Amino acid sequence: MDVPPDDLLTPTAGIITTPDGSRTALSARYGETYSSRHGAATQARQVFVEGSGTHEHPAPRVLEIGFGLGVNFRATVADTLRREVPLRYVAWEFDPARVDILRDVAEGEAHPIWTLLLERWPSTVPNGPIHLAAGNVDLTIHFEDVLNAELPQGWATALYLDGFSPTRNPEVWTPGFVARLAGTLAPRGALATYSAAGHVRRSLAAAGLTVERRPGAPGKRECLRAVRGA
Ligand SMILES: C[S@@+](CC[C@H](N)C(=O)[O-])C[C@H]1O[C@@H](n2cnc3c(N)ncnc32)[C@H](O)[C@@H]1O
Repeated sequence: MDVPPDDLLTPTAGIITTPDGSRTALSARYGETYSSRHGAATQARQVFVEGSGTHEHPAPRVLEIGFGLGVNFRATVADTLRREVPLRYVAWEFDPARVDILRDVAEGEAHPIWTLLLERWPSTVPNGPIHLAAGNVDLTIHFEDVLNAELPQGWATALYLDGFSPTRNPEVWTPGFVARLAGTLAPRGALATYSAAGHVRRSLAAAGLTVERRPGAPGKRECLRAVRGA
């Protein structure tokens, strides 16, 4: 299979320092930032870690779409490390950013799993997943289009639905794909997303999930949690 050269990895423009001191970057391809420019770490913690109930789970199994710059992953590791609980994290990412962008956005991050990830981060789009383990953290990243992926069934205690906006990245927000995502949740598992758009709410409800509006991270009034029944 032809592998694109390094400079064909996703074009990512400037690093942006957000008001809480954490960083994100602008995707030149999508014309949007990877995380909220009103507070990248705050959004990760509030919308995804707390929104999915991961911060209270004794052994979270997180599925993420897409991995992006790893801001949500690092927020999740910080939480499970503090609570001394194991974490299994499986993410999809079809358009990996360059390693220097991941490093710059996470400046100061010292957890061994992050160091290992930067060492192993591909310089071209790889043919297969990477799997890493350090301490209590187990990470798998699938570098493929999640639309074509075989997703685990009934596995995730938390699902972070974090595509770019439904306007720019509509394929991960369709009713059909959202229904597939619902099938990845374990009983009582929760999907968290920053979008509170009406069509996203309706897709989640149509997939059989109980949808709850929550206060959004800075810059957004609301976000969503959608829970699978027991
Ligand atoms: C908003 S960013 C995610 C930010 C990330 N969660 C973080 O914490 O840094 C959206 C990501 O989803 C990825 N993505 C979008 N559509 C995808 C698809 N069909 N398959 C796999 N990844 C996808 C994009 O390449 C991008 O990296």
